[in-house]
Amino acid sequence: MEDMTFVLFGATGDLAKRKIYPALYNLYVEGKMPESISVIGLGRTELTNEDLQAQVEEALNEFSRRDVQSENIQEFLSKFRYFIFDAMKEESYDRLRKYIEDRESELGIPDNRLFYLSVAPRLVEMITTQLDKSGVSRTNGWRRLIVEKPFGSDLESARELNACLKQVFDEEEIYRIDHYLGKPMVQNLESLIRPNPILKALWDHDQIANVQITASETVGVGSRASYYDKAGAIKDMVQNHLLQLVMMTAVHHEKKLSPKQTEEKKREIMESLQPVEPENLSTHVIRGQYEEGELSGEAVPAYRDESGVTEGSNNDTFFAAKLCIDNEYWRGIPFYIRTGKRMNEKSTRIVIEFKKDTDDAGIVSNLLVIQVNPDESISLRVNMKDNSTDQFEPQYISFSDNSSTQPEAYERLLYDGMVGNSTYFAHWHEVELSWEWVQPILDAFEQDEVPLHFYPAGSKGPSASHELLEKDGFEWN
Ligand SMILES: NC(=O)c1ccc[n+]([C@@H]2O[C@H](COP(=O)([O-])OP(=O)(O)OC[C@H]3O[C@@H](n4cnc5c(N)ncnc54)[C@H](OP(=O)(O)O)[C@@H]3O)[C@@H](O)[C@H]2O)c1
Repeated sequence: MEDMTFVLFGATGDLAKRKIYPALYNLYVEGKMPESISVIGLGRTELTNEDLQAQVEEALNEFSRRDVQSENIQEFLSKFRYFIFDAMKEESYDRLRKYIEDRESELGIPDNRLFYLSVAPRLVEMITTQLDKSGVSRTNGWRRLIVEKPFGSDLESARELNACLKQVFDEEEIYRIDHYLGKPMVQNLESLIRPNPILKALWDHDQIANVQITASETVGVGSRASYYDKAGAIKDMVQNHLLQLVMMTAVHHEKKLSPKQTEEKKREIMESLQPVEPENLSTHVIRGQYEEGELSGEAVPAYRDESGVTEGSNNDTFFAAKLCIDNEYWRGIPFYIRTGKRMNEKSTRIVIEFKKDTDDAGIVSNLLVIQVNPDESISLRVNMKDNSTDQFEPQYISFSDNSSTQPEAYERLLYDGMVGNSTYFAHWHEVELSWEWVQPILDAFEQDEVPLHFYPAGSKGPSASHELLEKDGFEWN
């Protein structure tokens, strides 16, 4: 890996502490870092280099999947410098360029620069423009920009944001983070299907009845109410994570794809995704919100009673929809997606349901379940005869690898960003097409044209979401 400078905007923030520092440390321990790297953390808070290094160490002790090792921690921390920086002040950028250059000379490294924007979206435009104006991003070596979610708050703002980034960076240099793409099971989809003829044979449109993608949480809105009450499940989960999971599942996994081919295939999927027609909005899309209920034996409040939520808010804490991908392969095979807060379980999974070829009593359809989170596993549901009762019972054949040796999503993504592999990042056309699919639904939500279905906290979501599948002869798995 080439030596570089890693410029971290938002070095004092929550994401840096919980995800970015632990990811960097684990990459370092595994030898997946450049021989020489200059990490420059930025923020307005007045800190010294030693203060930042102490904060990084504290974050590692709290959040790293691997214990901090006394023999290497000092060397790791010595790579960090802190630079007091206000992104809104133009003069900060000239000082930053000088600071980066001095450190590059000190370490004798080329001007390869990776900019990580772990800051509020409102700062992104200013930072990108000023990086260019001040020359910070004009390098002889490579330069890359990692941008955090959310990428826009609707179709128009996403386009504006992208236009701004593209004035400075080429699409190949922009890495939009969607951490679901860093999850091992999502990245393993291709290597799961391709070398296994059994699965390849099953992954066939004549065999598949439907695909179900679930991302449910048990937590409520927590401390994020001010953001979440405006975003809802549709912006927080659907436009980005769920549609990315749809794309990754629907891409043909028969042969190994290059990053460019993966990008093209994902784009083709999104181009084939049928918009929800206005007349289908209230039948194909389910908007829900949790009421008070019980989770793990504890009473929990209704969404509308959570602190920071607008009184009488109609915000969606649950979203389900039926999607149709109109291409040769998936035509006629519905994709159902759902996500919700305060559900009965925490689980992200992709379920492929196969057609049944018998209606014999007790026989259920076969399922291939790809569990993405919190555990990672693959299981196949089969019908087995119980000899004592002579009845068929569904049984799961499972394989799981929950070892702590699995790198976290941010580790994988940061590594890819450092080596310049954009396969598991969201490319602009996907993002734009996702917003295009979501926008009419968003507009209908804002106009209250889609009913709001309530569900008790701790349940499996509103009954309307079950009816969505029952109408087609299916149920959620
Ligand atoms: N936290 C998460 O789990 C999470 C998950 C997914 C995506 N994200 C995204 O990641 C980004 C960062 O989130 P976060 O949770 O880390 O936010 P945060 O805790 O509020 O941190 C914001 C960071 O921005 C810096 N900052 C604010 N104004 C600045 C300015 N004018 N100039 C320079 N630095 C400034 C702050 O440093 P100073 O106060 O020292 O200036 C701080 O380091 C956001 O886009 C968020 O949507 C976060």
